[in-house]
Amino acid sequence: MHSQREMIIQALPNALQQPVRDLMTAPGFDATIAKQSVKALSDASGLDESQLKLALLPLAASFSYTPISKFNVGAIVTGKSGKLYFGANMEFTGAQLGQTVHAEQSAISHAWIKGETAITNITINYSPCGHCRQFMNELDCASEFDIQLPDHAPQPLHYYLPDSFGPKDLDVTEGLMHPTSHDYSLDQQHPLLQRAVDAANMSHAPYTGDHSGIAIELANGKVFIGSYAENAAFNPSLPPLQVALSQVLIHGFQFSDIQSVALVEASGGAISHLADTQATLDVIDPDIPLIYTNI
Ligand code: THU
Ligand code: ZN
Repeated sequence: MHSQREMIIQALPNALQQPVRDLMTAPGFDATIAKQSVKALSDASGLDESQLKLALLPLAASFSYTPISKFNVGAIVTGKSGKLYFGANMEFTGAQLGQTVHAEQSAISHAWIKGETAITNITINYSPCGHCRQFMNELDCASEFDIQLPDHAPQPLHYYLPDSFGPKDLDVTEGLMHPTSHDYSLDQQHPLLQRAVDAANMSHAPYTGDHSGIAIELANGKVFIGSYAENAAFNPSLPPLQVALSQVLIHGFQFSDIQSVALVEASGGAISHLADTQATLDVIDPDIPLIYTNI
C-alpha cells in the first residue's frame, strides 16, 4: 500500500487500523465507505460518526495532488444514502490557478457522479474558502446539510455564508445534484463518447446551456466521467474535465495512466469547454488524444 497512507493508518486509534486498512486495500476500493461499514467502524472504535469522519480526513487528504501549494486538503461528504465519499484538492503545474479543484468540490462532485442527489454533511480539515462556500450554495440541498470542521460545532452553510447570492437570484430553481437527464444521444457508436454523453446528460448548466461531459479512459480500460457543474456566481463553476480528473486521482490512479479523453457539449451553448480542456490536458501530457463532438 501507498506508504504515506499506511503511516496515516498507523496513527489512527488502534481499533480502526486493521478495519480501515482492509477497506482501503480491498481491490474494489473506490474512495467511498458504505453505510454498514461506517456503522461497523463506529462500533469498533467507539467514535461517533462525526468523530470517525474527522479521524478519516487525513486519508481523504492523502489523495491530494498539490505540486504548487503542497497544502493537502481532505473532505468527506455523507450522501443522502448514508454512504461516505472522499475528496481531495488537485492542482496543475503550468495551467492557470482557476483550474484547481478544491477538496470540497472533489468530494461533492464524487457523490454526485456516483448518483447521490443530496448530501447531509461535509467534513473538512480546513475552513472552506469563499469559493467553496459559493460552490456549495449551488446545491439543491444547500440549506439542509452541516459543515463539520475539527474542533467546531457542526453548522449549516448559511452560518458560513450569510446573505448569500445563489441560483434563486437568477430564477434558477433546480440546483446542483438535482436528478436530471437532458436526453442527449449520439448517432455514432463510440463507447467513450457515449460515456461522455451520459455525463453531459446529468450536467448542471442552467446559466449557459452548455450541457457537457467528459469521459477519461485509462490504459487499463477503466473509464471515469465528469459532468459540468455550473455556479450562479459563474467563476466557481467546475468544468467537466476537473470533475473527471479528480475521480481519477481519488480512485488511486495517476495522470500518467490516462490514455484518451472525450468531451461532448451541447451545440449552441453560450460558452465552450474545448479550449480550456485542451489547455489543461496539454500541461498534463500534450500527447493525450482528445476526442470532441457536439450533441
Ligand atoms: N483548498 C481547498 O481544497 N479547499 C479550501 O476551501 C481551501 C483551499 C486548496 C486549494 C489549493 O489546492 C490549496 O488548498 C491552496 O489554496
Ligand atoms: Zn475552497
